[in-house]
Amino acid sequence: MRLSVFVALLCFVACGLVCGLSCPTGQFRSSVPRLCCNLCPAGHFMSKECQTSANDTQCSPCRSGTYNAKENKDTACRNCRTSCRDQKETIVKNCSSISDLQCDCSDDYYRDPHSLQCRKCTPCMKKGQVLVSRCGKYKDAVCKTCGKEDFVLNNLCVPCDRCHKGEFVVEECSPKRNTVCRKLPTSTPPSSSPHITSQEPVTGTKLVERADLNPTPAEIKAQKRFQDEMWGYRAVIMLLVLIILGLVLHQKINLCQTIKTKVTTLKKCSGPKESCAVSAGTPLLIKENNFKFSKTRADVTERLAMHLNASKDWKRLAGLMNYSSVYTQNWELTPCEATQKLLQDWSQRSDATVFTLYQFLKELRRDDAASLLLPYLTGQVPECETV
Ligand SMILES: *[C@@H]1O[C@H](CO)[C@@H](O)[C@H](O)[C@H]1NC(C)=O
Ligand SMILES: *[C@@H]1O[C@H](CO)[C@@H](O)[C@H](O)[C@H]1NC(C)=O
Repeated sequence: MRLSVFVALLCFVACGLVCGLSCPTGQFRSSVPRLCCNLCPAGHFMSKECQTSANDTQCSPCRSGTYNAKENKDTACRNCRTSCRDQKETIVKNCSSISDLQCDCSDDYYRDPHSLQCRKCTPCMKKGQVLVSRCGKYKDAVCKTCGKEDFVLNNLCVPCDRCHKGEFVVEECSPKRNTVCRKLPTSTPPSSSPHITSQEPVTGTKLVERADLNPTPAEIKAQKRFQDEMWGYRAVIMLLVLIILGLVLHQKINLCQTIKTKVTTLKKCSGPKESCAVSAGTPLLIKENNFKFSKTRADVTERLAMHLNASKDWKRLAGLMNYSSVYTQNWELTPCEATQKLLQDWSQRSDATVFTLYQFLKELRRDDAASLLLPYLTGQVPECETV
């Protein structure tokens, strides 16, 4: 009997200890009268503990510059940090009564996942580097260094061109720029035919060497070097020149005649430039020539773009030009300039002639676009431009 009373008493005490210590959520056990009292809400501190009932806890709001993030029975709020750790961090959230000042890495910095320090993003701006992935919140940018035989174009590694037979290197390929090739000057020096421009196809399929209007210093240097190398062969060249001079004189006479006839037909054409190329009554005779697309007027590219950008035919054209999808996907990002970018890139190829482009467009059945090139294939452009 005594034992059961003792056990019951023990249970009562244990229960009192355990049950009495815990209060419902949102309340705490006060110290002097053992009561369950309300906690103070976030953004407040307890200015006076409860005395008589659960709801007479007195709370006061945190003063400016201090905070309490949770329900609490603290007698004061915590101080906010007043600034971020250093210059590499910037404030993303100001101090408020319920949260401390929050900082994050500044622009152009990322948080190193190991040290948790902010570190500067690698810029991927070194020569011959391209950006593979951007700098993130917790990871640095990833750069790739292009191969030695590559140059960088639109953030892509592009293999450098090699000069073809019969061409010499004016400028070696550099990380920034493709190889620049120039045809060997096998015919007479340009000064002996000053009134003939490159836009003038010579009778037959040969093209007169172009007299460059503004050669860059690098080009001049390369030409000089080339001429020095040629010194040993001078005697042979002199002989050749004499023979060629004879031939050219003969050709020149022919040329003068063709120019004369063209000028006379042009006099009939006094309309606007546009109609000039098409106005000839006789059917236009298309002649294959080596006229480089890069030498065409800038508005030709723009007008081709007007025809091709909308239809995505530029993509098929890129296919014919052997461009991989890596390029087309890149250009697709700016659909209003896709054709321009394609042609701009392609025009740097040594085989990028107007005639080749004309054939591509015909193959795509884009006669409308192809017709824009006709003036360059019928030898009508130079005169029209001077009218
Ligand atoms: C406080 O609680 C008592 C009962 O515990 C209640 O009668 C009273 O209305 C409450 N006061 C407030 C302000 O909630
Ligand atoms: C923090 O406050 C300052 C001035 O009190 C203000 O200039 C700044 O824009 C604020 N920053 C944010 C992240 O709200």
